[in-house]
Amino acid sequence: MRTIPNFLAISGSLRAHSSNTEVLRACAILAPASVRVRIFDRLADLPHFNPDLDAEGAVLPASVEAFRGEIDAADALLISSPEYAHGVPGTLKNALDWLVSSPAMVFKPIALLNVSPRSTHAHASLVEILRTMSTVAVPGASIQLSLASRTLSADEIAADPQIADRLRSSLDALLVAAKEYQSRTDCETRKPRAP
Ligand code: FNR
Repeated sequence: MRTIPNFLAISGSLRAHSSNTEVLRACAILAPASVRVRIFDRLADLPHFNPDLDAEGAVLPASVEAFRGEIDAADALLISSPEYAHGVPGTLKNALDWLVSSPAMVFKPIALLNVSPRSTHAHASLVEILRTMSTVAVPGASIQLSLASRTLSADEIAADPQIADRLRSSLDALLVAAKEYQSRTDCETRKPRAP
């Protein structure tokens, strides 16, 4: 039985000063001490998805193995992504495609954060993609934020009382779902969990 829930945070932006990444870093600052939040920062290392590389008996690229391992070890995911040309950034969609055939995403609780109110297309698309992958969008954890500026740092975001309150509520809701997920996966023989 695992005790400390692991949240894996994935940003759909590769920009060094991405607002989506900074919000996820703010989540790491604001998370309760009983939760571990890790930012996954190796999306760019994943090769283009190719089902031939994912076929039975194929040797997966090391970066994909590592990514799947991190997803498997996570009790919940936080995803925050920009919208490009009314769609999900290719980098994030590519990463999700690598997870389609993996059981690691099934029932995984997800907080889908949206930091830009006008980015409605990518958000709707992500909701549909993640639903199709049998993940669980946690209602109270998936929130829409309107940042005062695109250049705020994680510390500045975490210091904004209103934004911090909303992020804390999201994290609390995700924690409840993560604990349920832990109990569920601990009971299953499908996946032995590490201590
Ligand atoms: C954008 N942006 C954007 N925004 C939006 O609401 N709808 C869109 O279709 C697009 N399209 C788009 C295309 C390209 C090529 C770029 C570079 C940007 C704006 C973008 O989503 C916004 O700047 C985000 O804040 C970027 O997120 P990060 O990198 O700060 O996390």
